[in-house]
Amino acid sequence: MANERLETLIEKVQANPKYQFISRELVSRLTEDALKKGLSGKSAVKAIRNKLHQVGGAYFRQRIDYEKPQKLVSGLPRDLKSDQVKDFCTRMMQSHASTAERLPILDHFFQTCLESIAPVTSIVDLACGMNPFAIPWMPLANRFSYHACDIYLDMVGFIREFFKHNEIEGDITACDLVIRLPQVDVQVAFLLKSIPCLEQVDKAIGDRLLDAIQAQHILVSFPVRSLGGQKKGMLDFYKNHFYDLVTGKGWKIQEFTFPTELAFLVTK
Ligand SMILES: C[S@@+](CC[C@H](N)C(=O)[O-])C[C@H]1O[C@@H](n2cnc3c(N)ncnc32)[C@H](O)[C@@H]1O
Repeated sequence: MANERLETLIEKVQANPKYQFISRELVSRLTEDALKKGLSGKSAVKAIRNKLHQVGGAYFRQRIDYEKPQKLVSGLPRDLKSDQVKDFCTRMMQSHASTAERLPILDHFFQTCLESIAPVTSIVDLACGMNPFAIPWMPLANRFSYHACDIYLDMVGFIREFFKHNEIEGDITACDLVIRLPQVDVQVAFLLKSIPCLEQVDKAIGDRLLDAIQAQHILVSFPVRSLGGQKKGMLDFYKNHFYDLVTGKGWKIQEFTFPTELAFLVTK
């Protein structure tokens, strides 16, 4: 009976196309939470959708129908440094607020943050959004692997096609980082601007993820303004928050401040 209630509610939440392609693991966990809080019917559906919007939907300027860009991928040259590929990648990054905000600093963001460990040979990009389209701007070795995950099945499927076309080695999967971390042994893990987002559903996730990530280095970053564009002392707030998370761990930390992002390269 409890299972039936859960299934019915999940179906109702995902009946709206906006929530249709979100990882079932995440929808199911939020639905269980709503039921535990005693919510039911329309108020439960509304609460779950609000949370899904807050952690994922809010970053998209509009819903993306991946069919059109998918067709464009097959016509692209197989050269990640070509202007045509870079134009395409820029357009894809523009569609997601988080990568759009990184575009003005893209020419030096990854070069600066990863300079001390370049050329990079393997990456896992956690809660990646459209960031895998920044690959042409990263200081990578000639041969590299790139793994990534996010909650959107359609977005990860599309990125997978881009990887296939360019013969990029790696796995792109749908995930719920609150429940599970992809198990890959890599040189660098990216956790870009995602800790505040994940903390909206699990307050202890930042500490847990930083401890659990199996990588020699973690590139962690934080936004310096809200999605609405306000600064509200966010730089100092997140700087303090980050140092609270890593104090006492004995890790080496390099700090980088950009006009739109605060980043740290953690070496375990
Ligand atoms: C602020 S955006 C950052 C995106 C990307 N890392 C970047 O820097 O451009 C937060 C990302 O976290 C993803 N996300 C939210 N909840 C998640 C979860 N439980 N597991 C995995 N990804 C999640 C969202 O879909 C969104 O792409």
